[in-house]
Amino acid sequence: MAEMNGPDRNGFLCICIFTITFWNNTYTSAENGFKANYSKSGLDAVPKNLPAQMTDLDLSYNSISELQISDFSSLSKLRVLNLSHNLIRELDFSIFQYNKDLELLDLSHNKLQTLSCIPVTSLRHLDLSYNNFMDMPTCQAFGKMVKLEYLGLSARRIQKSDFRVLANLQLDTLFLGLEHLTESVPGSLPAFNTKKLRIALPENSEFVSLELNVTESLELSNIQGKQVSGLITFLSQPSKNGKLLNLTLNNIELSWLSLTAILQKVWESSIEYFNINYVNILIFEDTSQSLNYVDTSLKTLTIKHAVAVSEMFNQEDVYRTFSEMNIASLTISHSGILIMFCPLKPSDFTYLSFSHNSLTDKIFENCKNLALLETLILQNNQLKQLAKMSLMTSHMNSLKHLDLSQNLLQYEDNMNDCHWGKNMIKLNLASNQLSESVFRCLPANIQILHLQNNPISSIPKEITELTALEEINLASNKLASLPGCGQFRNLRFLNIEMNSVVSPSSEFYQTCQGIKQLKAGHNPFTCTCELRQFISLQKQGSMELVGWPDAYVCEYPDYLRGTLLKDFHVSEVVCNVSLLITIVIIVTVVLVATVSFLCIRFDVPWYLKMMWKWTQAKHRIRKSNPEDMLPNIEFHAFISYSEHDSEWVKNVLIPNLEKEDGSIRICQHERNFVAGKSIVENIIDCIEKSYKSIFVLSPYFVQSEWCHYELYFAHHKLFSENADSLILIVLEPIPAYIIPTRYHKLKALMAKRTYLEWPKEKSKHGLFWSNLRAAIYVKLSSNEEERAFSLI
Ligand SMILES: *[C@@H]1O[C@H](CO)[C@@H](O)[C@H](O)[C@H]1NC(C)=O
Repeated sequence: MAEMNGPDRNGFLCICIFTITFWNNTYTSAENGFKANYSKSGLDAVPKNLPAQMTDLDLSYNSISELQISDFSSLSKLRVLNLSHNLIRELDFSIFQYNKDLELLDLSHNKLQTLSCIPVTSLRHLDLSYNNFMDMPTCQAFGKMVKLEYLGLSARRIQKSDFRVLANLQLDTLFLGLEHLTESVPGSLPAFNTKKLRIALPENSEFVSLELNVTESLELSNIQGKQVSGLITFLSQPSKNGKLLNLTLNNIELSWLSLTAILQKVWESSIEYFNINYVNILIFEDTSQSLNYVDTSLKTLTIKHAVAVSEMFNQEDVYRTFSEMNIASLTISHSGILIMFCPLKPSDFTYLSFSHNSLTDKIFENCKNLALLETLILQNNQLKQLAKMSLMTSHMNSLKHLDLSQNLLQYEDNMNDCHWGKNMIKLNLASNQLSESVFRCLPANIQILHLQNNPISSIPKEITELTALEEINLASNKLASLPGCGQFRNLRFLNIEMNSVVSPSSEFYQTCQGIKQLKAGHNPFTCTCELRQFISLQKQGSMELVGWPDAYVCEYPDYLRGTLLKDFHVSEVVCNVSLLITIVIIVTVVLVATVSFLCIRFDVPWYLKMMWKWTQAKHRIRKSNPEDMLPNIEFHAFISYSEHDSEWVKNVLIPNLEKEDGSIRICQHERNFVAGKSIVENIIDCIEKSYKSIFVLSPYFVQSEWCHYELYFAHHKLFSENADSLILIVLEPIPAYIIPTRYHKLKALMAKRTYLEWPKEKSKHGLFWSNLRAAIYVKLSSNEEERAFSLI
């Protein structure tokens, strides 16, 4: 296979780096700089083509063995460079000559043997510890790095002169990793110009003699064997430890006797804070010798990860050593202690922490000598009965804060056996086995209450009010709805995330207005109308919803699962029943009004009436049989009218009824006049030969012509009131007063409105004629089809 030539190879590299950086998402742009994390990336060289704006570069845990000037020359903004845990053998500080802002350089845990020094004056933090230096790598140039705050060094051989150059510096922390010291120190270490001195002592060697003139804080690691007595000696020389305030011992193994000796020396010294981490205490000797608790500067003793290595020991002796201490603050954690005694006389403790041990409900039973205690931390022990814990506090009149989290606490209801210290304001009951009954066993003046991670499924209504309660944490319980705040009137902060809250109760809105912050995310919200009020809380801004919007997601109904509450919208109308009814009513009213208006405007009732009549007439014609016809009928209709209206009858009515096809025949007494008969006889003759009689009514007709027919009506039953052979057309409106009182028949007919009105609007004429034709049509013996009935 052909070897890649130069340019191709560069291109390949470029793509590789591009790919790696973007696939691993190594770059992060933070507001205070451009960071890249290449930790544990298997690199054997500093990556090329890093962005010039890079400020923080983490190259720790790789296999980089060499550094070159070109590696960093383009990174003029570089502030933090972590090269710890690599294989770098030599370092020339001049490679950082272009990194004028370099503040932090971590080269610890490499293979450095040589150093060429020029001052990198911007450095504040320089770690050269855990390398392969034979002598302390303290070059003259360090004296010029006046900004240096942290310096980490280690070597196999040390001399007093090594540290002369540091005299000019005002260090905050000096770390000396002396684990691998092969040659012991001649005399003692010089007085360092630093606030905090941290020394990892060499294993199995003499204690390094120290002068600590100005050091405030000393941290010593790896103390065992002969070093223990060296430490005791050091602590008994006030001239050497004169101003020490803070002493920390890590990773230490010693006998009980040595421990009490050290404690005794600390008691007599200027130390205020004493911390012991990872200590093995060998208890084989007599433990009866007690400490002399002289007046002391010590305020705080903290012991973490202590292990008692012993077959049997007098617990009373050992635990009394701690319980009788006359200091303010004592912590013994991660140490498996089973018991702690009540002090024998009124104690000075204001702070006690025994977290991560194996204490039982017997702790401080009936203890009256902790009256000054303000804070008691009993997190992660074997405590079981909440009632007993409350009794424990009943004599602790100063107790404000009690932490009982991560225990096995339960509370049996209906016992009325809870008596809490009267000043308790903060109680942590998180991660226990408490159910809702816990609300019947709470301190009356509690302000801050932690109940997260318990199996509480509701908040009982009938509990005493907790008027002082400002903050309650109910996260990770089993609550099904947002509770009301009736019993907690001054609640400001409610955390109820990770429960089973489907929607808030109406009580919540009524009683929880005082809440400023609500944390309710990660609940299975049901996104329906009920939730709208909750969502609007966010918009109103009166209550801050912590974690909004990402933590608030719909769980039900299924089609909305995963939707953010922020994006769930449902309109006001759908949810507000009274609004919905109002709108329906308004719409109906408007519709009715519009229809009515249109009806009146376009005379729809008239059309409907006419259509109805026309349909009836057509129906009648369809059903009628020619055999039903009276044999002496010759005409479809007889028309009677006043002389005054004759023009309309002759020019409008008759032409419109008698269409050209002659399907309708009209008997007109003038036209079909039979000589030798009187007018009345002629008229009656015409009526009798016609299927229908049409009367064209107008005021004139009523006054002048009606009389001709009255007689006829009086004698012929043919035209009774029910008879449908009479068709009245009202050509002009007839006021009732015009009709003479004796015309009862006409009045009755008019009152029954059984007449057709001649419409003034031309648009209605077509329907009028169709209707009239349909009304008078009948198959006469000599007659034809239903040609006349088309609507015009
Ligand atoms: C450098 O990285 C190592 C490993 O990630 C880390 O432990 C160390 O604290 C870092 N150094 C500084 C000064 O932050």
